[in-house]
Amino acid sequence: MCGIVGCTGSMPVKKVLVEGLKRLEYRGYDSAGVAIQQDGALEVVHRVGKVAGLESELACRDLRGTCGIGHTRWATHGRPSTVNAHPHASCDGRIAVVHNGIIENFAELREQLQARGHVFASETDTEVLAHLLEEAYAECPGDLLTALRRALQHVIGAYGVAAVCADEPGVIACARKDSPIVVGRGKDASYVASDIIALIDATRDVVVLEDGQLARLTPESITYFDERGREIEPEITHVDWDVDLAEKGGYPDFMLKEIHEQPRVVRDTLAGRMVGGELSIDELGLSYEELNLIDRVYVIACGTSYHAGLIAKNLIERWARIPTEVEVASEFRYRNPIITPSTLVVAVSQSGETADTLAAIRDARIRGAKVFGITNVVGSPVARESDGVIYTKANKEIAVASTKSFLGQVVSLTLLALLLAQTKGRLTTAQVRLLFRELGDTAEQIERILHDTEAIDEAAYACKDAASALFVGRGIGSAICYEGALKLKEISYLHAEAYAAGEMKHGPIALIDDGFPVIAVATESPVYDKLVSNLKECEARGALIVAIATEGDEEIKKIARHVIYVPKVRDCFTPITASVPLQLFARAIALLRGCDVDQPRNLAKSVTVE
Ligand code: G6P
Repeated sequence: MCGIVGCTGSMPVKKVLVEGLKRLEYRGYDSAGVAIQQDGALEVVHRVGKVAGLESELACRDLRGTCGIGHTRWATHGRPSTVNAHPHASCDGRIAVVHNGIIENFAELREQLQARGHVFASETDTEVLAHLLEEAYAECPGDLLTALRRALQHVIGAYGVAAVCADEPGVIACARKDSPIVVGRGKDASYVASDIIALIDATRDVVVLEDGQLARLTPESITYFDERGREIEPEITHVDWDVDLAEKGGYPDFMLKEIHEQPRVVRDTLAGRMVGGELSIDELGLSYEELNLIDRVYVIACGTSYHAGLIAKNLIERWARIPTEVEVASEFRYRNPIITPSTLVVAVSQSGETADTLAAIRDARIRGAKVFGITNVVGSPVARESDGVIYTKANKEIAVASTKSFLGQVVSLTLLALLLAQTKGRLTTAQVRLLFRELGDTAEQIERILHDTEAIDEAAYACKDAASALFVGRGIGSAICYEGALKLKEISYLHAEAYAAGEMKHGPIALIDDGFPVIAVATESPVYDKLVSNLKECEARGALIVAIATEGDEEIKKIARHVIYVPKVRDCFTPITASVPLQLFARAIALLRGCDVDQPRNLAKSVTVE
C-alpha cells in the first residue's frame, strides 16, 4: 500500500526521493509525489501512475533543495488523481505532509477546519493533517515537531506521517501509530521511510519507531520523542540484508526470482528445528503443558496466508487431531468466535502488518486465547503482539503476489502441526522424524520442478485466452487449488475459481463447455480415483483439463490435455510441490496476456487499512 520516503542532507534530494519511491513500488500504488524545500518555499509535484512518470516530470524541473518528502499512494479516500496524490499542503502552502494509514475521524475534522476557514484541495483523509498542522504551527512557530505532536492529538486512526515546513529548512518531523515509520542516519544525511527497504542504500542501522513516538530529522542528527514530547533514546536495529535482495538478480521479474528462491526457503525454515532427534520450536512462547492443553485451533489470516491456513487445518487435524478452523481475519474479528484459554490462535501474515489480522490478534488475546504468529518480517506488529512467533525465513518478498512467503508459511505450519502432534502424543518421535526428513526433501523436489517448465508453458499457452478457469482438487489438493486460482486472478486478471472437485456436480459443471480450462491438482492421494471420476465428467463436456500429476502417472493422460508432472511425495506434502507449477502457470499466463506480474493493478503488497 502507500509508501513514505524523506531525506534531509547537504546534497539535492530529488534523486534520493525518486530512488526511495522506486524501492517502495512493490507495495502497490496508483500515484506518487514529492515536496521539496527550495528557496524558502515548498515545491510540491504529484503524478498519477508510476514513479517513472514522476521522475520524468522532476527531470524537467530545476529542483536543488536538500530536504524533502515523497509518497506513493494507494487510493482509499478519493479516487487516484493528481489532486488526491500526496504530499498534501496547508492553505498557505508552507507545510506539506505525507501519510500512510487512515484517519477515521477525518470527516468531522474536515468540517471543523472548513468552518474555521481552511480550504481543501483534495478528497483525502490525509489533507486534514496538513491543515491541523498549519493551525498547530501557528501556536508554536519554529517547532514543527511539537506542532505535529499537537496536531496528532486530534486524530483518531492509524498513521505513519512525515512533514516538512518552508519555515524550517532542513527539518523533517515524523510520527507513527499503527503504521510503520523507520528512520536512519546515512553518511551525510538523515532518512525516513515507511519500509526499511527504502533506506538500505543509505544505512543498515535503523530505528523502527514505536507507536506514539516521533522523530525530528536534520542533516546532522535525529532526535526521538515520546508522545508527551520527552526526548527518548531509541533502540537501533541492524539490518543485515544484502542490497541484492532488492534487485532482480538476473531474473526478468521479482516473481520468478522469488519462485526460484523456494528451495532455499524450505531449507532455511527447517534449519535448526530438529534438535537431538526432537522437533523444537523455541520461539513458540508456550510451555509443554500449555501446548498439551490446547483443544481448539483457529488459523486467522488474509489472502494467500489464508490459503496456507487451509493447508494447516488439514495437517493439524490429520496429525494432532485438534479441531481446527480457518477464517479470514476480517470475518473473525467481527463475529464473536468461541475462544477459551485452551484455544490457540495462529495468525499468519507475510508482512506482519495486515490491519485485519492485527485486529483479530488483539481481539483473540482480549478473549483469553494464546496467539502464535507466523510472519516473514522480524519485529513486525504481528510478531510483537503474539505470544510466540515462527519466522518464515523467506526474506523480503517484493512481487505483490506472494510465492516464497506462502511456501515458507506452509512449511512453518507443517512444523507447528508436527509439534502439536508430538506434544499430544498422536505421532511417535520416529514418525515425526520421518515426516520432518521428507519435508526437507521437498527442497530438492522443487528444484527439479523448476528445472523443466516446458509443460507448464504449453498449458499456459493453451489457456491464455480463456475468460474463466476452474481449479479443482480433493482433500488437501482442494486447499492448493484456492491458492492456484488466487494467483491466476491476481496477476493475469483471468477470472478463476477453486472448488472441491466433488462439488462440481452441484453447480460449477454448468460452466463447462468446449475448451473451458479445468486445472486439477491430481497428485497421488487416497482420493485420486474419486477426483479422476470428477474430471471425466468435465472432460465429457469438453473441458480443457490441465492436470498436476505425480511422475509416472500415465493414466491421467487419457483425460488431461496437458499434464504437468511433479515428483512423488507423501500426500501431506503435495501443497509444497504442487503449488510451484501453479505459481509458474499463473505467471506464464500473465506474461502472455501482457500483464505486469510484479505489480498487478489495484493490489497492494501489504494491506494496512481495514
Ligand atoms: C495482500 C497481498 C497478498 C497477501 C495478503 C495478506 O492482499 O497482496 O499477497 O496474501 O495481503 O497479507 P499478509 O502480509 O497478512 O500475509
